[in-house]
Amino acid sequence: MCYHECQDDASKGGKRAELNRQADLVERAGRYLAGGGLGLFVLPPEVNLVVAEGRGGHVIDANGRDFIDYHLGSGPALLGHAHPEIVAAVGRQLSKGSTYYFLNEPVIRLAERLVNAIPCAEQVHFTGSGSEATFFAMRLARAVTGRDKILKFEGGWHGVSDYSLWGTIPPRPSRYPDAEPDTLGIPAALRGQVLVAPFNDAARAVEIIDRHAGELAAVIVEPLERVLTPVPGFLEALRDATRRHEIVLIFDEVVTGFRIAWGGAQERYGVTPDLATYGKAMSGGFPMAAIAGPNRIMKSLDAHRTDRRHLVWASGTLSGNPISATAGLTALDLLSRPGTYDHLHKIGGRLRREIPKIGARYGFAAQTPGEDAVFGVRFTSREPLRSWEDLLTADKDLNLRWSVELLRRGILVNPNEKFYISVAHTDADVDRTLEACDQAFATIAR
Ligand SMILES: Cc1ncc(COP(=O)(O)O)c(C=O)c1O
Repeated sequence: MCYHECQDDASKGGKRAELNRQADLVERAGRYLAGGGLGLFVLPPEVNLVVAEGRGGHVIDANGRDFIDYHLGSGPALLGHAHPEIVAAVGRQLSKGSTYYFLNEPVIRLAERLVNAIPCAEQVHFTGSGSEATFFAMRLARAVTGRDKILKFEGGWHGVSDYSLWGTIPPRPSRYPDAEPDTLGIPAALRGQVLVAPFNDAARAVEIIDRHAGELAAVIVEPLERVLTPVPGFLEALRDATRRHEIVLIFDEVVTGFRIAWGGAQERYGVTPDLATYGKAMSGGFPMAAIAGPNRIMKSLDAHRTDRRHLVWASGTLSGNPISATAGLTALDLLSRPGTYDHLHKIGGRLRREIPKIGARYGFAAQTPGEDAVFGVRFTSREPLRSWEDLLTADKDLNLRWSVELLRRGILVNPNEKFYISVAHTDADVDRTLEACDQAFATIAR
C-alpha cells in the first residue's frame, strides 16, 4: 500500500488512530532522543517514519504502511529482514544465554568460516562494530610498523573514531595530503596524523606514500569508495607502493564484504591487502564486526606469543558474542548457496540500468555509480564519476526531493546515500520501484 492510499484510508477514519500512533512516536523521539533520531541522519519531517517490523526486502512502519526497503538497516540485512533460518538459529542460541565473554563454539566456527572465505585472512579478531574494527586495524598497523600516520582517501568512510573522521565529507577538494576533521571534538593534536589523497588518482596517492613512507603506518581504503568503483590499476598501485615501503594496506570491506562477491572486494577487484575489516552483512544483521589478516600481524593480539610490551589491546565486552556469531554463521551459509550473487546482480543491475533511462525521459541526468549489489543515484552530468570532487557536482537538493517522492510512494531510501540490494528483493519489487521512480521524476520535473 502506498503513502497516498494510506492517506485516503486514514481520511476514512479507520486508520486515524494508527496515524496518530506514528505521529505520536515521532514527537516523542524529538523529545527524548538527541536530534530526534539515531545519529545525524533523520528523514525529512514530511516522510519521517518509525519502523515497526522488517519482513524480507520490506519494512512496515508504525502505521502499518509497507515500504520496499533499499536501505536494509544501512546494509546488514543483505538476506532480508527476519530471515526464517537466522531467526530460528538465533532463537536456539538465545535459549542458551546471550553472552559469555569466554570462548564459545559459534564464534570459533565463524572465525574458521571467515578465514576460509577471505583471501588475506589467516586469522580474525572480532569487534563490536565496524568503527571499532577500523580503529583497531589502524592501531595494529601502528604497532607493527612503529610509525604513526595513516593515509586515507577523500570521501572514504571508516566509521566514527577520531582517526576516521578526516576528509570524509569536505565541501570542496582537500589540500592533499592535509585533511580537515569532519566533526567537532577531535583532539587538535591529531592534526597531521591522518593524511588524505584523492580516490582513484594512483599517481597522486603513490607520490604521497613515497614522500611520507617513513611516517606511514597504514593506507586505509574502501575498495569501492561509497559508490565509486576503483579504476583499473588504482588498488594495484596502492598494493605495490605499500609493499615497497612495508606500510600496512587495509581494505575496509565493511560494506563490500560478502556483498559485491562472496570474496568481497578482494575477489571482485583481484587485489589482496594486508588487513581487511568486515561488518554489516557478515553478522546477519546482528552487532559484530571483524579484522582479518595474516599471522605476522595478528600475532600482535596474542598474549601467549607476544611480549606484553608488544601487545595490542583490542578487546570488548561483547566482541565474541555467540548470538551475533550464530547469526553470522547462518547468514554466511545462506549467502554461500548457489545463485545468491546472480540474484543481486539481476535485481540491482535492472535498477541501475532503468533509473537513468527514466530520469532522462524527464530531462534529468541521473547516474547509478557503484556495483549492482550496492550503488547510488547521483544527479550530475559529470562523467565518469571517479572521485569525491566528481561527486561534489551532484545536485543533492534535487536528489532529496526525488527521494522524498519515492518515500511517499512506499520506497524506503536514504536520500543522497546508497541503494542496498537484498537477496529477498524480487522482480515485482523492481517493477513497483521503477513505477515509483517514474512518478517521482514526473513530480520533480513539474
Ligand atoms: C566502509 C565502512 N567502514 C566502517 C563503517 C563503520 O561501521 P559501524 O557503523 O558498524 O561502526 C561503515 C559504516 O557505515 C562503513 O560503511
